[in-house]
Amino acid sequence: MGNSSQAALAAHALAKRLSGHHIIDGRFVPAISGTTFPVINPATGKEIGCAANGSAEDVDLAVTVASKAQAAWAQTSARARGKALNECARRLAEHAEEIAQLLALETGKAIRTESRGEANLVGECFSFYGGLTSELKGETVPFDPKMLTLTQREPIGVVAAIIPWNAPLMLMALKIAPAIAAGNTVVIKSAEEAPLAVLRVIEIVNEVLPAGVANILSGDGPGCGAPLVAHPKVRKVTFTGSVDTGKYIAQAAAEKLIPVTLELGGKSPMIVMGDADLDKAVEGAVSGMRFTRQGQSCTAASRMFVHESIIDVFVEKVKAKVNAMKMGDPLDESTDIGTIISRAQFDRVHSYIQLGELVPGAQSHHLSNVPSDPAFKDGLFVQPVMFTGISNDHQLSREEIFGPVTCVIAFKDYEDVIQQANDSDFALAATIWTNNMKLAMDATQRLQAGLVQVNQNIVVQPGLSYGGLKQSGLGKEASLEAMLEHFTHKKTIIINLA
Ligand code: NAI
Ligand code: MG
Repeated sequence: MGNSSQAALAAHALAKRLSGHHIIDGRFVPAISGTTFPVINPATGKEIGCAANGSAEDVDLAVTVASKAQAAWAQTSARARGKALNECARRLAEHAEEIAQLLALETGKAIRTESRGEANLVGECFSFYGGLTSELKGETVPFDPKMLTLTQREPIGVVAAIIPWNAPLMLMALKIAPAIAAGNTVVIKSAEEAPLAVLRVIEIVNEVLPAGVANILSGDGPGCGAPLVAHPKVRKVTFTGSVDTGKYIAQAAAEKLIPVTLELGGKSPMIVMGDADLDKAVEGAVSGMRFTRQGQSCTAASRMFVHESIIDVFVEKVKAKVNAMKMGDPLDESTDIGTIISRAQFDRVHSYIQLGELVPGAQSHHLSNVPSDPAFKDGLFVQPVMFTGISNDHQLSREEIFGPVTCVIAFKDYEDVIQQANDSDFALAATIWTNNMKLAMDATQRLQAGLVQVNQNIVVQPGLSYGGLKQSGLGKEASLEAMLEHFTHKKTIIINLA
């Protein structure tokens, strides 16, 4: 038996062992209702295990436990909390490969190009915030010489973290590491489609953290997520997902007057000027569109504005690159592109592709090949599609597709392309590709986005503030600022010296 099939067997065994559990107060527990829902391998359509089906009763138990644990955790010194996070990071790094295999199994994200990197980022995120706990400091304020005036950062309390399926490990870590570092406790609600790899991460951090600091529930949005947001002891919600759910959460949080951080969708522009280094831009298009992840990314470069003088050769070069990529078994090291997450998303992506095919004058380029191996005949593989001849005001250019579908739009004029790039309901990320540095700098000032990159397209990194404007959300993640501004409140203290 090869190493990769051994790894697959181990991932299946791990999925079975984790099945049907929440982690509350440091222990595996089933849902109080005793019910579960299936977890499906999207590459085969087969069930690999199940998840506890959480409801309001489980939410109440988990939040009550988290609330009790919070007082003691906040009293633990900042340095000691930081050490604990670093120890979590060490153990997460030790187990990164097994977590990556499980992620590939339950989400269909290819092991070499996607799942392994994401699993490694979890530990990095814990060590990043573990090193920042001494930065949870306040100031002295020159208010009145007779009054010693200072500020102090305090944790908020119990934080609810509601996460999606597209990068569940990374997006969970970006939320819970800063929250826990700052002295809060957390109750996580995992995504229905990807509950297991995140559960394994929480099992590992519970070997280090006091019981009740990191709790995790699985369940659906209305049945488990909504009561979590509404629970009176939850004092902050941090969410990544769809715009509609984000708005619903913001409204529910407004009822309790608690803060929210929202990381919602995107429709990110990539501008390729006529003088750009074409091969670099082509590489950037392939990685920026996250073809290896079937385009299931909020920062996907799904609007490519390419100067008319180079658009034909650009399209041919991107086509050649993506055609050379192998779509197939997510657990196979030679696979570049895995699957779509679920049948619902698969149908949704196809409905957008059909819509594009109907646009008069549009051309579709279907790339790479779905696997021919009969073992994957029920797999949710979609051939990436590049559309040309679809304008920026068409539905396909305006709505987040969350699949491997990109519109390549020709432009003539720099002023016009900046205007088109900004003409979107979203404003998460943007890139510009050019050797004219004066123009590049001008674009960095004028593009509306939380993250603007010139001649590169790297993904979220611990240390770099990440978050969008408009319908892309509220607040920042991944940075020191994210911990200070989103997981603490500042108390002002005045001591009369007179
Ligand atoms: P969703 O927003 O419904 O789900 C995200 C999380 O929110 C899941 O854990 C879900 O259980 C939870 N949730 C759903 N309804 C809730 C409620 N009423 N109260 C509390 N929690 C609730 O997103 P979904 O349905 O998985 O995907 C739909 C679309 O959303 C995608 O096609 C994509 O366009 C977008 N999306 C964007 C993401 C991003 O990274 N910004 C991530 C996932 C989806
Ligand atoms: Mg939904």
